[in-house]
Amino acid sequence: MHFNIVTLFPEYFSGPLDCGQLGKARESGLLSFSFHSPRDAAEDKRRTVDGPPYGGGPGMVMLPGPLSRTLRGLGFIPRSAGGPGPLLLFKAGGIPFGQTRAAALAEEADRSGRDRTLTLICGRYEGIDARIEELFPAQPVSVGDFVLNGGEAAALCLIEAVSRLLPGFMGDERSREEESFTPGLCGGLPEYPQYTRPEVFEGLAVPKVLLSGDHAGIALWRRQASLLAALQIRPELAAAAALDHDDRAWLQSVCRPATGRNLYCALVHFPVLDREDNPGAASLTNLDIHDIARSSCTYGLGGFYALTPLADQRALLRDILRYWTAGPGARSNPDRARALALVREGEDIACAVADLELRTGTAPLLIGTSARSGHGGPPEMTFAEIAGYLQTRPVLLLFGTGRGLAPQALEMCAAVAPPLRALGAYNHLSVRAAAAVTFDRILHDLD
Ligand SMILES: C[S@@+](CC[C@H](N)C(=O)[O-])C[C@H]1O[C@@H](n2cnc3c(N)ncnc32)[C@H](O)[C@@H]1O
Repeated sequence: MHFNIVTLFPEYFSGPLDCGQLGKARESGLLSFSFHSPRDAAEDKRRTVDGPPYGGGPGMVMLPGPLSRTLRGLGFIPRSAGGPGPLLLFKAGGIPFGQTRAAALAEEADRSGRDRTLTLICGRYEGIDARIEELFPAQPVSVGDFVLNGGEAAALCLIEAVSRLLPGFMGDERSREEESFTPGLCGGLPEYPQYTRPEVFEGLAVPKVLLSGDHAGIALWRRQASLLAALQIRPELAAAAALDHDDRAWLQSVCRPATGRNLYCALVHFPVLDREDNPGAASLTNLDIHDIARSSCTYGLGGFYALTPLADQRALLRDILRYWTAGPGARSNPDRARALALVREGEDIACAVADLELRTGTAPLLIGTSARSGHGGPPEMTFAEIAGYLQTRPVLLLFGTGRGLAPQALEMCAAVAPPLRALGAYNHLSVRAAAAVTFDRILHDLD
């Protein structure tokens, strides 16, 4: 495989490409590299390759002229897909690079024989004039959500990741099949922990199963260790991995799905907005109480407060709860009784806060919800940030009946959760549906 590297700093690569397996692959002819500096294609005496950004701002931008000439010199034809092979352009905001992409690039190379060429454009300064991407259909590649000085370090990551998947690169071909993020044994998960001699190091013994010679036992231990590693550090990988029945059964035995134990919700019936956007009280409904209780139970919430200052409405709530948690409803539907046992009656938000503080010993973080942004209330907090708070303190989510929480209720909150489907033309969810979706956004677990 050949790499054309378009860079202002070819010297950056001396060293890394000669080291270890990369060096060997280069010597054997499996890999080859050539360097192409846009500076060599500059037309002025000073060999200028950058200019100040139009529209102002700090730093310099790489000029399109020298880069375009460099790419034409390599055989790329502007406004066409023509060229010597895939063109990749490194940029911090590009498409995240991962093992799947590395495998696809290596596989294409594999299929087309050893002459496959990848051309990598390394940006510098504030980046590259955007017209280069318009003229030459390059694939934007990011190696992570951070900003490097230039694309050279990113190029080295890509070169290593792709090259080691080429047949003949690694001594033992099985190595690449049993690695992190690779379908095979790890199933797209991080790799399992590895151990080598001695058997006991500083009092720490190698897991017994690895010394047993029981291949099926070892494979199972490794699979489960990978799953656990994903759950602890990269839960999104576990969520995306192909889990079979045994994986799920084992996961259920060792860890419950993300629990909302520290998450509580309150259905507020006052102060909420009426049709004219005036603050007032809304009526309690059987439907809301049942459905939010069921969602709360499903997501493992610590409790669900139904709040109304109206005594007759609280009496209605007590009737509903009595029927379903202790009366005929409980006998005919014990699952429903379990969900409705989570419901607590209260007059207002302050009552719920005081009750929670009494029960948990910590004042809850109050988070409002709204279908609209720009309500002029507290700042928005992402679902991930709300989930982060659950590690250390109770969080009470407020849901408004009627047309939503009145400003007086929102003002009591430390923050507001992002509105659901705010970019759509219609986002009038029932409060029951909004509660369920919000719980899932905060506590989503493996599916
Ligand atoms: C200092 S950076 C420019 C950062 C750019 N102004 C921004 O805010 O995204 C210079 C060059 O480094 C490369 N680069 C920086 N971070 C990268 C990343 N995470 N992945 C891939 N390339 C990166 C790109 O080629 C970029 O043009």
